[in-house]
Amino acid sequence: MKNQHTHLLQATDLESSYGDSQALFGASLAIEEGEFVTLLGRNGMGKTTTVRSVMGIMTPHRGRVFFAGQDITQWPSYQIARLGIGLVPEQRQVFANLTVYENLVATAHNRLQQKDPWTLARVYQLFPRLQERVGNLGANLSGGEQQMLAIGRALMTNPRLLILDEATEGLAPLVRQEIWECLSTLKNSGLSVLVIDKNIVPLLRLADTHYILENGRTIWQGSSPSLLEARHELKESLGV
Ligand SMILES: Nc1ncnc2c1ncn2[C@@H]1O[C@H](COP(=O)(O)OP(=O)(O)O)[C@@H](O)[C@H]1O
Ligand SMILES: [Mg+2]
Repeated sequence: MKNQHTHLLQATDLESSYGDSQALFGASLAIEEGEFVTLLGRNGMGKTTTVRSVMGIMTPHRGRVFFAGQDITQWPSYQIARLGIGLVPEQRQVFANLTVYENLVATAHNRLQQKDPWTLARVYQLFPRLQERVGNLGANLSGGEQQMLAIGRALMTNPRLLILDEATEGLAPLVRQEIWECLSTLKNSGLSVLVIDKNIVPLLRLADTHYILENGRTIWQGSSPSLLEARHELKESLGV
């Protein structure tokens, strides 16, 4: 067993409920500094609930969450975000009535005083499309542009860990490709990333470690080569 303080994020045996309805029954995952990790599983298996429980959007009634050596299990979400977790939520949630520029600067900060902080120029370099749309309202962007904006907005908070819930859901193949390329760039820059997505093939190439959730429980974890090897046995759990 590794000491939990060596992980950037460690969630152990999380149990969380919506009212009387329990959704997590032992969700666990760990992310090392600089690691690219996925959370996989069919619809309704608890991926978003795990992210909410890690981020303090929901408070788990069992299990623990450690981030950078601190027990953050009962912390409010704004404090957890300040520790350096950037979330690209499932529904993107860009500010509809703000322009692209305003979306990017609205929540920007470098509270952790990271060196080489994210700037508008760096975000525009990553997503040239956003620069072309800089004065457009969030509401008037395509799904792909909204996702780029949500990623750019999260990066402008200079996170130590970037979490994407359904990274490419509902996007056209070419836009998906752009998102995967962006994630590859971010990975190569050393950022720690947790991705939820249904497309296993690009993730096998990008990710170091995978976790599979079934009925709110982590049922499998392993490297990309082991997932490739086990993919037939795991077909049902992966929903592919
Ligand atoms: N806001 C909610 N209220 C009540 N139940 C919910 C809510 N969100 C999700 N659930 C339930 O929790 C379980 C896990 O859902 P979720 O974490 O969204 O799964 P996934 O992200 O893997 O598709 C499902 O049974 C789902 O119906
Ligand atoms: Mg979800």
